[in-house]
Amino acid sequence: MNLRTPAAVPLLLALALLGAGCSGGVEGTPGAVGLRDPYFPGLGNGGYDVTHYGLKLDLGPSADELSGPSTDGPSGPAADRLRGTATITARATQDLSAFHLDLAGLDVEGATVEGRPAAVNRAGKELTIRPAAAVEDRLRKGRTFTTVVRYSGSPQAITDAGGDKEGWLRTADGAVALGEPTGSMAWFPGNHHPSDKATYDIEVTVPDPLTAVSNGELVSRRTENGRTAYLWRTTEPMASYLATVAVGRFTTHQSRTPEGIRLFTAVDPESAAGSRDVLAEIPAVLAWSAERFGPYPFRSAGAIVERTGDSTYALETQNRPVFPGPPDTALLVHELAHQWFGNSVTPATWRDLWLSEGFATYAEWLWAADHDGVPIGKSFEEAYADDANWAFPPAGPPAAGDLFSSPVYGRGAMVVHRIRLAVDDDRAFFALVRGWTKAHRHRNAATEDFTAYVEERTGQDLTELWDTWLYGESRPPKEG
Ligand code: ARG
Ligand code: ZN
Repeated sequence: MNLRTPAAVPLLLALALLGAGCSGGVEGTPGAVGLRDPYFPGLGNGGYDVTHYGLKLDLGPSADELSGPSTDGPSGPAADRLRGTATITARATQDLSAFHLDLAGLDVEGATVEGRPAAVNRAGKELTIRPAAAVEDRLRKGRTFTTVVRYSGSPQAITDAGGDKEGWLRTADGAVALGEPTGSMAWFPGNHHPSDKATYDIEVTVPDPLTAVSNGELVSRRTENGRTAYLWRTTEPMASYLATVAVGRFTTHQSRTPEGIRLFTAVDPESAAGSRDVLAEIPAVLAWSAERFGPYPFRSAGAIVERTGDSTYALETQNRPVFPGPPDTALLVHELAHQWFGNSVTPATWRDLWLSEGFATYAEWLWAADHDGVPIGKSFEEAYADDANWAFPPAGPPAAGDLFSSPVYGRGAMVVHRIRLAVDDDRAFFALVRGWTKAHRHRNAATEDFTAYVEERTGQDLTELWDTWLYGESRPPKEG
């Protein structure tokens, strides 16, 4: 229920008198505070769909601070101070009187909606934005509106439910942003649920000699007064948990694969020698993956290798996965497989994560079979024998802290392999996989979409397979 502010009454009256052809008038209601994700009910926001984020991030001391009396000076940790402007273009999915954004930490200095100052309320990680009455008719269902949020502060690392660090992670000479599952709200306000994918322009200004790397393509680089602005553009839809920024000293390398995919790698100089050979495998891994999973879904690829210190895991950040040190080939294969499974075909909710991790793990098994002489049946047997994989069903982690544990990965891969056995024809199986990445390319998919798709494509009733391998609580007998 929404109480209309007095200022809007004359507008309503005027519209009524003009006979404006809007049956519902401009009466809006607030967008939902969360999207009821099974693991993070408050994550994301209802009532709108973001189409584009324009993020401008300024890191390090401001020009004023630099010219004023020195406090801790420009040699202080460059990535500790952030001044940000987020320009968020969104389409209303209901008539909105107010809506929410997720943001963890940082101070909000102000916001506008459609160019008019908006009221901002802060309660923990929820920002409530109430547009000026004069522009409320621009937030009617189906219309596209622009919100600008100015914010600043010292972005923080978040300890997630599984005990891992994500969010804004400091490094020896800068920072790296990691956002799975909820860390991206530590550095920009938005609709931080995987179901709301958008395009991004991420411009990061850093003091020289630091470099700022992000997703997509580097479209410009401007240096002024010892500070350089790097503008990165992501034109294919991206879930916010896959957005990254890495600031520091990097050895960078640009090239193209024979297929024309642009490659950009940024490597911490200390890891450069150790990373060279494995990163040189990226084109071959992409070509091998494309044969099995379908065309590579993005125009750019690459990697970021940086000692993230607080975190020790790799993350499949879009186009350019982050590795906490020189990866081995298996890890490279895993993170590149995520570009298809997770980044292009994105889980509809966090319950569907096994569709990402199961396939990325299965990609490792496939690679080992093709390159290391490890039969796929052996990888399956090992996963089957590992008790850790049987703690819970892959499509039902008991709690948020279990999302990144063995069953989602190893047992997820076992589900994929059982489908392959049921199909009993490798050509048909890989056609099925390519059909899946094609059907949901640059979209979201849920577990039920997957099971329905597989049954439809194979013409088989696989109820027993799902009940046993995907949803079953316990390890089935070996020849089940
Ligand atoms: N998706 C990453 C992978 O490639 C793991 C991310 C783990 N995230 C976390 N917060 N623990 O498997
Ligand atoms: Zn993974």
